[in-house]
Amino acid sequence: MTTPVCQTAANKNNDKNKNNEPGLADVVACDSAICFIDGQEGRLVYRGYDALDLAQHSTFEEVAYLLWYGRLPGTTEFQAFLDGFTGGMVLPVETTMILRMVPRTATSMEVLRTAVSFLGHWDPDSGNTRLDACLRKAQRITERIPLIIAAHHRLKEGQEPIAPLPNHGIAYNFLYTLQGAEPEPDITHALDVALILHADHELNASTFAARVTAATMSDIYSSMTSAIGALKGPLHGGANADVMEMFEAIGMPEHAEAWILNRLAAKNKIPGFGHRVYKCEDPRAGILRDYARIITDKVGDTRFYEIAQAVEKTMLANSKVFPNVDFYSGILYRAMGIPTELFTPIFAMSRAVGWSAHILEQWRNNRLIRPNARYIGPALRAYTAIEDRSS
Ligand SMILES: CC(C)(COP(=O)(O)OP(=O)(O)OC[C@H]1O[C@@H](n2cnc3c(N)ncnc32)[C@H](O)[C@@H]1OP(=O)(O)O)[C@@H](O)C(=O)NCCC(=O)NCCS
Repeated sequence: MTTPVCQTAANKNNDKNKNNEPGLADVVACDSAICFIDGQEGRLVYRGYDALDLAQHSTFEEVAYLLWYGRLPGTTEFQAFLDGFTGGMVLPVETTMILRMVPRTATSMEVLRTAVSFLGHWDPDSGNTRLDACLRKAQRITERIPLIIAAHHRLKEGQEPIAPLPNHGIAYNFLYTLQGAEPEPDITHALDVALILHADHELNASTFAARVTAATMSDIYSSMTSAIGALKGPLHGGANADVMEMFEAIGMPEHAEAWILNRLAAKNKIPGFGHRVYKCEDPRAGILRDYARIITDKVGDTRFYEIAQAVEKTMLANSKVFPNVDFYSGILYRAMGIPTELFTPIFAMSRAVGWSAHILEQWRNNRLIRPNARYIGPALRAYTAIEDRSS
């Protein structure tokens, strides 16, 4: 008997991909000069700079410049960048109209996905594919995402959106437009650090989604919308909200050990632990742990921090996985008075910078991203008329 045509073709493809792993683990899908992760040593590097150094000394806006332009700015160019960036934070009136129209049941991530896609219609550079226009679009999307998240949340709560204050950065204006009060400097700083630490992470699922869409030579708004859709899932950006739900279910630090051991015995995954790339503690978790302690102390409510410590202790003693970026970020945001539903949107607010840097890099040396599948379906068979089928 001769081998069916589709099986011969499938075997050819399978031979090319003998070493591929489920979930594309360990597959190198592109060259990139943006971000390096050392998963063994627990190091995260943006364009050659350790992200922990940037978190300590830099600002989110400066990191955006670094990721987009490939180097840190001088004083004059950074001021010009800020004037055009946070200096121009404003939401098109049509976007606010859409935010008023979405159903109350829509989640913040669903609304963000819709709103970012919608923003593309009102971008003055829409259709302009030159690099300078794409950089302006990246900037506009980044400065508008916090305004969308805050305005939608206020409308959902029956409050009117608030305009941002000029001459303040993304972290400050997100808190201001969300809460309607000028945030304290240490709270703004802690959020700024969290934004720096989430700004990029190599070829994570949402960044890959952005690059796949960009590689078809689609536009930046479509690519960013793809990324937001991917980030929304609980195995990616949604994990920080799951962590808070877990802390609420645990209730008290004394209950943590039994709760975790039960879950592990049932072979359930613990949110906020494990990572595809880090085989040690995620370096971002360490710095967010410090800020979570500082800010929960400041606001005088350390219950979730203490539960987190008890969970971490139990996990370190009973599993081989370590805390990831999502484990402490939720506690920090909660202590800032931010509702759980906004945790993943905040992730998007920061990662927008990384997504757009990757989209621009993809276009610099583009080739369509189109892998193969290993065919495991039926061999070639003859079509039978419906009246001749047995079932
Ligand atoms: C992030 C994540 C999806 C990575 O998945 P992955 O690279 O496919 O890793 P795997 O699911 O194959 O896990 C490898 C091993 O670690 C264990 N493990 C991974 N994450 C775990 C977790 N959160 N809790 C308990 N065990 C975990 C797995 O059970 C598996 O053990 P085994 O080898 O004995 O079967 C996974 O760790 C996870 O689901 N974590 C919880 C969600 C989360 O926090 N996501 C945010 C990531 S930044």
